[in-house]
Amino acid sequence: MDRQPQRTLSIDIGGSGIKGMVLDETGTPLNERVRVATPQPATPAPVIAAIVELVKGLEFDRVSVGFPGVVRLGITETAVNLHPDWVGFDLAGTLTQQLGKPTRVCNDADMQGLGAIAGRGVELVITLGTGFGSALFLDGRLVPNLEMGHHEFRKGETYEEQLGRVALDLQGKKKWNQRLEKAIASLQHLFNYDCLYIGGGNTDRITFELPANVKIVPNISGILGGIALWRD
Ligand code: BGC
Repeated sequence: MDRQPQRTLSIDIGGSGIKGMVLDETGTPLNERVRVATPQPATPAPVIAAIVELVKGLEFDRVSVGFPGVVRLGITETAVNLHPDWVGFDLAGTLTQQLGKPTRVCNDADMQGLGAIAGRGVELVITLGTGFGSALFLDGRLVPNLEMGHHEFRKGETYEEQLGRVALDLQGKKKWNQRLEKAIASLQHLFNYDCLYIGGGNTDRITFELPANVKIVPNISGILGGIALWRD
C-alpha cells in the first residue's frame, strides 16, 4: 500500500513569540505562518495551551518543535530565556498527547541550522534573538545542543550577555555590531568553519560587511528546519 504524504507542523518557541507553519514532505509551506506572543511567565502550561490554540484549524500528521534550550530525547533540560519550570519537562510527550500527533523536539538553533545548511564541510550557525543560539554540523550531521551562548566571550561576559536582545537594547546598535564583528573573528579562529550562518530576528540590525564565508539566513529557516527532524 502507498504511504500517505505526511504534513509536518513546525513550531518555533521563542522568548518573545511562538510561530508555526505546516510543511509538505519537500518542506514547502502549506499555510501562512501563524504567530502568538509567548505567554509571560513562560512556564510549560501556558506555553502548551498557547500552542494548542495557535494551531487550531491547521491540518497536519506530525509535529516538529524548536525549543530555546537543551533538549534530549524530547525532554527540555534548560530554558534560560523562558522559565526554570522547563527543566526536566517532557515536551515531546506532552505535545504528542495534547495535539494527538507524534511530536519531535530539538534545540531551536539546531532546527534553524537544519533549515539553512548546505550539508558540506564544517558549518556553524549562530542565532541572534532574545538569546544567542548556536549549532554545529559536519557534512550535514548535527552535533546537538552546542550551547556557546553561555560561554565566556569577552570582558567576563558570555556571548549571550554581550550579544543577546538585552545587550542590544542597553548598549545600542553600534556597540552591538562591534561586538558581533569580534565574535565572528573569534569563532572563525575557534572552529575554522567553511561557512557561518547567522539567523534570528536581530540579523536585520547588522550594519557591517560580512566576510565571504558568512551568510545571513532568513528567519523562516527556523521553521523550515522542522522537516529535517523526520528524515530517516
Ligand atoms: C539557549 C539556547 C538557545 C538560544 C536561542 C540560549 O539562551 O541556552 O539553547 O538556542 O538561547 O534561543
